[in-house]
Amino acid sequence: MEEIQKKRIFSGIQPTGVFTLGNYIGAIKNWNDLQKDFDCLFSVVDMHAITVRQDPTKLRQQILNSYALLLACGIDPDKSILFIQSHVARHAELSWVLSCFTQFGELSRMTQFKDKSARHADNINAGLFTYPVLMAADILLYQTDMVPVGADQKQHLELARDIAARFNSVCGDTFKIPEPYIPKTGARIMSLADPTKKMSKSDENPNGFVAILDEPDVIMRKFKRAVTDSDSIVRYSEGKDGINNLMAIYASVTGKSFDEIEREFDGKGYGDFKAAVGEAVSDALRPIRENYKRYSADKAYLENCYTKGAEMANKISFRTLDKVYKKCGFIKKPF
Ligand code: TRP
Repeated sequence: MEEIQKKRIFSGIQPTGVFTLGNYIGAIKNWNDLQKDFDCLFSVVDMHAITVRQDPTKLRQQILNSYALLLACGIDPDKSILFIQSHVARHAELSWVLSCFTQFGELSRMTQFKDKSARHADNINAGLFTYPVLMAADILLYQTDMVPVGADQKQHLELARDIAARFNSVCGDTFKIPEPYIPKTGARIMSLADPTKKMSKSDENPNGFVAILDEPDVIMRKFKRAVTDSDSIVRYSEGKDGINNLMAIYASVTGKSFDEIEREFDGKGYGDFKAAVGEAVSDALRPIRENYKRYSADKAYLENCYTKGAEMANKISFRTLDKVYKKCGFIKKPF
């Protein structure tokens, strides 16, 4: 029987700061599940990271740590292609071509650019502006079918689709138009200190986020301090942002439904609920913390994995770029 071609998924994560419970539930945990049914490429996007100033020594460490953490979270290098973006030069090459098919006006409308340039007013570099073009190159280079993205990256994915469609219409069919992949589960996780804001590693209040590698006592403390409301009934409803967030977290790490959670905590107060969420999260993250210690200490294994990942990504990327260069009118590369 002919083997059915699996659909291809691409996603990337920046190696900056610590990864949070929000990154885990909102992204990495889903990546893990996708590996069974899809042909997945996951990338530590170090080239995106330098759009804001980085300390090179720290960045080098963060790239390796991020890679080790993805392995620890269950990304399996035998099932997926897990690689470091700067190791595959065609991302940069395709990015240049695509930038010639992207309008200044389109990039000016990107809300993340507006936010980031306000936050880094002393370094509004061209890379920060063209960042979505590099992201489009990441995706289009692999003829990706689907991209799992959070709400904050939707606009960038829309742009990638527009760029692909434009190139196809000007130069002839070249790129597959990628679709957003909306996971069945995996909510947007909010800050524990201000549940109207997304959980972010750059929160100045460290009680706002739980890092994947936080120790159990730290996790428990942060959940006990989580901001809720003056009500005392554990129920999912509008206006109860804090409780809704804790329920989403609990549901995600235990697999329980909201109904089941409401029944479980019927007649109990917020204190019991917060402790239960803290414990469930701590249990869910324990194996990751342990795996991480093992992987991050094994430099030879890491090097082996990212080398293999780069080789595989490199092999796939060559076909698309060759086609693109030909359509642009370039002369075939002599080597
Ligand atoms: N811009 C994404 C973020 O900051 C990371 C990213 C880079 C990405 N390239 C990508 C995500 C390609 C999905 C697909 O979260």
